Amino acid sequence: MRTPTLEGRHFIDSLDLSPAEYDSLFSLAERIKGKPEKFSSCCTGRLMATLFYEPSTRTRLSFEAAMLRLGGRVLTVADPATSSVAKGESLADTIRTVASYSDLIVIRHPKEGAARLAALFSPVPLINGGDGAREHPTQTLTDLFTIKTYKGRLDGLTVAFCGDLRYGRTVHSLIKALARHEGMRFILISPEELRLPERVKDEVRALGEGIELAETTRMEDGLAEADVLYMTRIQKERFFNEEDYLRLRDSYVLTREKLSLAKEDLIVMHPLPRVTEIAYEVDEDRRAIYFEQARLGMWARMALIARLLGVA
Ligand code: NCD
Repeated sequence: MRTPTLEGRHFIDSLDLSPAEYDSLFSLAERIKGKPEKFSSCCTGRLMATLFYEPSTRTRLSFEAAMLRLGGRVLTVADPATSSVAKGESLADTIRTVASYSDLIVIRHPKEGAARLAALFSPVPLINGGDGAREHPTQTLTDLFTIKTYKGRLDGLTVAFCGDLRYGRTVHSLIKALARHEGMRFILISPEELRLPERVKDEVRALGEGIELAETTRMEDGLAEADVLYMTRIQKERFFNEEDYLRLRDSYVLTREKLSLAKEDLIVMHPLPRVTEIAYEVDEDRRAIYFEQARLGMWARMALIARLLGVA
């Protein structure tokens, strides 16, 4: 089979890549992970710009680590207050300018749809590092690679999503990408106010024939059957008032005791940062793989960068 070419493409939505394209990225990420030194100069002379208009640790640093490990270099705007946005520059103008200095752009923006808009003005590949509560496709790349690594497959799995399913963009991107695989069952665990938006549910149903979507407010309901438990943070910054946030913040806390209800081969994932939703005692359990998930994300992003630049 011909390797699908990703050179020059943007990555805005988790469905921008076909399952076959994800697969080919996983194979490359696997090769990079096994022998990183073989890839350590494949991006020599290339520049990646990261424009982060919202807080981030993992996404920005793992992209930067990925590019540096490929031998490329990085330009960063991590604080909009110090860039021309503070002078009233439009996103379109910023992107046109940054694209004239760099070979690849990664953008994170608080507004939904900002990355899609930015891509319209970018002659170089542009990657969505998160746009408001909408999408976070490279977290999906990370998450799929993690599930594939630990479970050996992406089909026939029961995946429980727990927490803020309304504002959690990582969930929106991941559940759609998973819905394209056979035999998936999803258990959606959230408070009433933070249920998965209808828009996303409709998309999921349209993607997977006969897909099972169960909703519950009780964490215990989903735990026993899940092969994957995807925990999320209540997204404080998307709430309109502090009171609601405080009321919902501790809705779910995964403890060692709760984990005793789960399968022995469950994997507990979290895009991180964690606040109160996973007790620290759970970190000792071998089913807790969220830090390894973050590391796998770096190899997956190396594969993505290399493919978008057409160097591997
Ligand atoms: C997530 C995000 O920014 O959406 N973090 C990440 O990129 N790893 C999840 C979160 O902030 O809760």
